[in-house]
Amino acid sequence: MTLTKKHILDWLKACAAEFETQQDYLTDLDREIGDADHGLNMNRGFTKVIEKLPTFEAQPIGGVMKGTGMALMSSIGGASGPLYGTFFIRAATSTANAQELDLAGLLKMLEDGVAGIVMRGKAEPSDKTMCDTWWPALEACKNAVEDRADIGSALTAMVEAAEKGAKATISMQARKGRASYLGERSVGHQDAGATSSLFMIKALSAVVNGG
Ligand SMILES: Nc1ncnc2c1ncn2[C@@H]1O[C@H](COP(=O)(O)OP(=O)(O)OP(=O)(O)O)[C@@H](O)[C@H]1O
Ligand SMILES: [Mg+2]
Repeated sequence: MTLTKKHILDWLKACAAEFETQQDYLTDLDREIGDADHGLNMNRGFTKVIEKLPTFEAQPIGGVMKGTGMALMSSIGGASGPLYGTFFIRAATSTANAQELDLAGLLKMLEDGVAGIVMRGKAEPSDKTMCDTWWPALEACKNAVEDRADIGSALTAMVEAAEKGAKATISMQARKGRASYLGERSVGHQDAGATSSLFMIKALSAVVNGG
C-alpha cells in the first residue's frame, strides 16, 4: 500500500474538519499560557486551505503541499502561521513530482517539514512546542521504515508516539514563544501547538486506517 495524492487531499479536508471541531479546545489550551488564539488560527488557516484547494489540487503531492503552506502562511498570524506554512512548503521538496509515497517517502516528507519548523523557530527538545509532538512521531516512523512496516501500522505507531509527546509537554517549562514569558508558570499545561500537531497526525492516520 502507498500513500496516494487522494490520501493527502482527504487529509487536508480532515484537518480542516478537525480544527473546526477543536477550535474552542485549542483556544482554551492557548488561553492558559498564551493569548487564546491558537484554535482560531488553525481553523482560519485550514478554512483558507480548503478555499484555495481547487487552485492546486490537480498538481502532484509537492504542489498540493506547497499550495497548503502558502495558504497557511497568508492566513494565520502569529507564530504558528510561518511555522506550519514552512512545514508544508518544505514538505513539498522531496514530493515535487510524486503522485504517491511509500513509507520511506512519507518519512522524508515529514522530516523535511519538521526541519523547516526548526529552521524557523529554533526549537530544541523539551522547549514545549509543536516539535515535541513531531519528533517522537518521526522516531516512530523511522522505526517503522526499519521494520518494513506498512503505512497503516506506521501511522498507528506515530499517533501513539505523538500522543505521548503532546502529553509530555504538560510538565515542560516553555522556552519558546509567548508561553516562555511565563517561566515556571507555564508548567502544568499542555502546549496548544503540540496538540494541533497531534490532531494533524491523528487525521492522517484516520484517513489511511479509517475511523
Ligand atoms: N519557536 C517555536 N518553534 C516551534 N513551535 C513554536 C515556537 N513558538 C511557538 N510555537 C508553537 O506555536 C504555538 C502557538 O501558536 P499560536 O497560533 O497561538 O501563535 P501565537 O499566539 O503567535 O504564538 P506565540 O505563543 O509564539 O505568541 C505554541 O503552542 C507552540 O507549539
Ligand atoms: Mg497564541
